[in-house]
Amino acid sequence: MSKFAVAGATGRLGRHVVDVLTERRHQVVPMSRATGVDIVTGEGLAEALAGVEVVIDVASWHASEQEAATDFFRTSARNLHEYGRKAGVAQITVASIIGVGNATGGFLAAKKAHEELLLSGPLPVRILRAAQFHEFVGQLLDWQQGDVAYMPALPSQLVACRTVAEELAGLATAPGIPGPPIPEIAGPRKEILAEAAALLGARRGVKVVGVDGSGMPDAEIAAKGAFLPSPHAKLAGPTFQEWLDTQP
Ligand SMILES: NC(=O)c1ccc[n+]([C@@H]2O[C@H](COP(=O)([O-])OP(=O)(O)OC[C@H]3O[C@@H](n4cnc5c(N)ncnc54)[C@H](OP(=O)(O)O)[C@@H]3O)[C@@H](O)[C@H]2O)c1
Repeated sequence: MSKFAVAGATGRLGRHVVDVLTERRHQVVPMSRATGVDIVTGEGLAEALAGVEVVIDVASWHASEQEAATDFFRTSARNLHEYGRKAGVAQITVASIIGVGNATGGFLAAKKAHEELLLSGPLPVRILRAAQFHEFVGQLLDWQQGDVAYMPALPSQLVACRTVAEELAGLATAPGIPGPPIPEIAGPRKEILAEAAALLGARRGVKVVGVDGSGMPDAEIAAKGAFLPSPHAKLAGPTFQEWLDTQP
């Protein structure tokens, strides 16, 4: 049994990470502003990290704007290293996004910076790159108003948060630091984001119209598969439809 702190414990992915670690009988300190721990201002962080061996960082900025997201990741990465070193934390494991190495703008570029910032700190860092989450499709619909939603018809190998959480917990507890390439986890098959959103939209009474994604950062390379899993990626279910069938 180890003691873990989970940054972003109340988020889409974070709540599954807490569940998986708890089921595996680890001690878990949930960290989010809702639990009184702010990884940007540092409020509550020293207390939360007391006795912690591993930090799992699944905290996120709430919007897609590159500069604000990069600021969030810069400050949180510095704080997790500084407070973590003082507390005797042995390593940080972080969730990133498949294909960030190809990103030139937007949130994915901020995540690329996040990886680099974390890797430049004093503590050892393990990275797991994941595909877009099944759970993120609902967020994309929520960001649009009305009965019609416009979604990019771009490919994504969507994956369930629970599947990512299991992989992240495994990486965090694996002996030794895994060498390159950076591990990846993705769903069992390529989906088209607009088609997945249409399945969810049908349940919500929202008509989904697929658009070409122009205007989005890196849409052209995304259409060619720049954010799809690498050949070494682990692929695991459920598919989006299977996952959707389990949702209330
Ligand atoms: N969404 C995707 O499809 C996807 C795909 C691959 C990888 N990822 C990566 O996976 C990670 C988790 O994403 P997610 O979609 O699960 O995020 P999310 O649902 O937006 O959750 C964000 C979490 O961060 C916490 N948080 C925000 N500001 C904080 C602060 N100042 N101090 C402490 N906690 C803070 C939030 O809680 P409070 O608001 O209570 O603070 C929440 O628990 C991110 O690194 C993301 O880039 C996401």
